[in-house]
Amino acid sequence: MFPISLAPSVRSLPRTRSLCSHLNRSYSTKPGRVIFSGIQPTGIVHLGNYLGAISNWVELQNNAKPEDQILFSIVGWHALTLPQNPKVLRTARRDTLAALLAFGIDPKKTVLFHQEDNQCHTELAWILSCITPLGTLRRMTTWKSRLADSRNANSEDDINEGMLNAGLFTYPVLQAADILAYRATHVPVGEDQTQHLELSRDLAKSFNKTFNGKKRFFPVPEQMITPFKRVLSLKDPTSKMSKSSPDPTSRILLTDTYPMIQQKLRGAVTDSNSHISFDPINLRGTANLLSILSACTGETIPNIVARYTGKEKAHGILKMEVADSLEEIWRQPRQDFERLRGETEFLDAVAKEGARKAKDMTQQTMKEVRTLVGLC
Ligand code: AMP
Ligand code: TRP
Repeated sequence: MFPISLAPSVRSLPRTRSLCSHLNRSYSTKPGRVIFSGIQPTGIVHLGNYLGAISNWVELQNNAKPEDQILFSIVGWHALTLPQNPKVLRTARRDTLAALLAFGIDPKKTVLFHQEDNQCHTELAWILSCITPLGTLRRMTTWKSRLADSRNANSEDDINEGMLNAGLFTYPVLQAADILAYRATHVPVGEDQTQHLELSRDLAKSFNKTFNGKKRFFPVPEQMITPFKRVLSLKDPTSKMSKSSPDPTSRILLTDTYPMIQQKLRGAVTDSNSHISFDPINLRGTANLLSILSACTGETIPNIVARYTGKEKAHGILKMEVADSLEEIWRQPRQDFERLRGETEFLDAVAKEGARKAKDMTQQTMKEVRTLVGLC
């Protein structure tokens, strides 16, 4: 389940902090890839978000060809599908933007914007919902795990359709609209998003068939699975690290200081074996720590395991090595984040410019969509 050999060395990723290094590009008619991804503003970014998504986004941004177009969206409408405190959500929107900048997303190289600043997403979502079979949506099961997480349920069996609101049910249609509005060709997301990507692909084909005589209007977007597929909870290695888990010690947040990181790792659940081995099926807690260490340092897992052969108190030492390596990659982004989150005028200006570019990119497509469906 962990393609560990593929885990990227985060240290080796180039990080771009300059916010004014490139000239703006024109986004209208270029060939090349259109890469789109999104993150919900539902709390402080954690290690799972970073290793599973954001580190990959930074790498894609820095290795993009001049003809590629890259968009990263903070998806507030998706956040509303679970209850949110408006005050907290308002802060989380800015914080998520600050976190993406702190990790090296460069708004001069990408279109970095808040989803809800471009109304085209909801317009297209409505149109797509009118060609989405109810049965297909019923087969999407992510709403169950989201509700289970948010309600601290023991299992998805405790969740039933009576708890479901229409927004959460049609969540994947809005996600398809996010992607198709920009005629995106590639979507870098974690494995947990595969079902949603399938629906986006089906809806692109269905729209083309229904309204464009089967000719390609929307490209069929490809999922780019991130190399580090799943960072596990430090407290329950049968589930993924998530923002919604009720136990704050189960995740490492961008705001965590070195002593906090050490404390959380000291408390991480590992296996009772006294020696260290890599077994992601049976010894998940230890495998999770080895994977994180490998991603942070670039050292292969077999090498790390070999270093621990015959060591006394191996788990305790491993945990502190993970804490040290994490601190190495966390220190600078944490400092930048703490500074940036207070620069509200700057953040609002970045968001405004991103919104302008995003709207620009979808204008022509939406005109054509309206014509194709007969609404103008
Ligand atoms: P979310 O916080 O649910 O909006 O997720 C934002 C991105 O982070 C998505 O691409 C997810 O697939 C990824 N992600 C979230 N949690 C994890 C995790 N524990 N391991 C790997 N990727 C994750
Ligand atoms: N559903 C994604 C998640 O939970 C977030 C998201 C919304 C997204 N729209 C998107 C991801 C479009 C990729 C493309 O992580």
